[in-house]
Amino acid sequence: MDTKKIKFKPGHHLLKPFIPRKLKEVIKDIVSRVEDVGSQSRRELLFGENEPLVPPLRMMFEGPRDYELFKENGREFFEYLRRFCDLQPNHKILDIGCGIGRKTLPLITYLNEQGSYDGVDIVEKGVEWLRAKVGTKHPNFRFHLTDVSNGYYNAQGEIKAVNYKFPFPDNTFDIMLMGSVFTQMLTDEVENYLAEVARVLKPGGQSFITYFLLNEEAERLVSEGKGTLRLKHRVGKCRVEDKNSVADSVAHQEADMRALYERCGFNIKDKIHYGFWCGRESYTSYEDFIIAVKR
Ligand SMILES: C[S@@+](CC[C@H](N)C(=O)[O-])C[C@H]1O[C@@H](n2cnc3c(N)ncnc32)[C@H](O)[C@@H]1O
Repeated sequence: MDTKKIKFKPGHHLLKPFIPRKLKEVIKDIVSRVEDVGSQSRRELLFGENEPLVPPLRMMFEGPRDYELFKENGREFFEYLRRFCDLQPNHKILDIGCGIGRKTLPLITYLNEQGSYDGVDIVEKGVEWLRAKVGTKHPNFRFHLTDVSNGYYNAQGEIKAVNYKFPFPDNTFDIMLMGSVFTQMLTDEVENYLAEVARVLKPGGQSFITYFLLNEEAERLVSEGKGTLRLKHRVGKCRVEDKNSVADSVAHQEADMRALYERCGFNIKDKIHYGFWCGRESYTSYEDFIIAVKR
């Protein structure tokens, strides 16, 4: 065998001379056909999945199709859970609308055997993927499929969100997380879900929910066209982006949400963390979020 050191020059492809011409043509063809989706997708197409617990792009049905943004979102919310909710390795976490596991990944290495994670979603392919990739290796990570209807994700669902009872006993969880789910649900559905959150949290347990909240500032910025949403249509007291697909993006009145937390037996913790979705210059994240403690 030739053991002589190889001098590397930029632009020099060590393997290229050994790849048969036909195979080069096939690779070139594949790469050219997926050009518009970016280099990550080309890598995925050529060499398979990126990282074992990061889903392939074709499975990212509920947010940006991008590996780095996927991981970044998980890290961002893990950081909030640590900073604002004092997340502990033995906590029992419920993630309603867990999607394809954007918020799940950092918890896999963080939670210990006393801790657990239950994810619920209405889209089968996400739940199946998470069960296969995460649940089989980490038995304290469980994924639950439910056939609740949502005009955007599961229009034919059998169960109405206003009637849905979470499949867990009372007083079970330390933290309940809901990222970009109430932004896709209308008032009466949100009312039922928040009551269910209150039921399944332990006393002192915390709920972490993201929103598009309408208050004076948000209404003014939206009317000036500053944010990412126009919200031109009204459904009850909500404002929605697309009147033909109302569950696409839903904004709720902040005052109504505050009253609902009170009715469901929560105290809002510290303050509401406002987001830049409406064009604010000072913000915590993209969406607003409310952390509340069950009394
Ligand atoms: C925008 S995605 C957010 C996913 C994930 N929570 C995140 O933050 O990345 C909304 C998710 O909520 C799920 N969803 C929508 N309506 C729901 C409902 N009524 N109950 C449970 N999940 C729901 C959707 O299937 C989708 O996975």
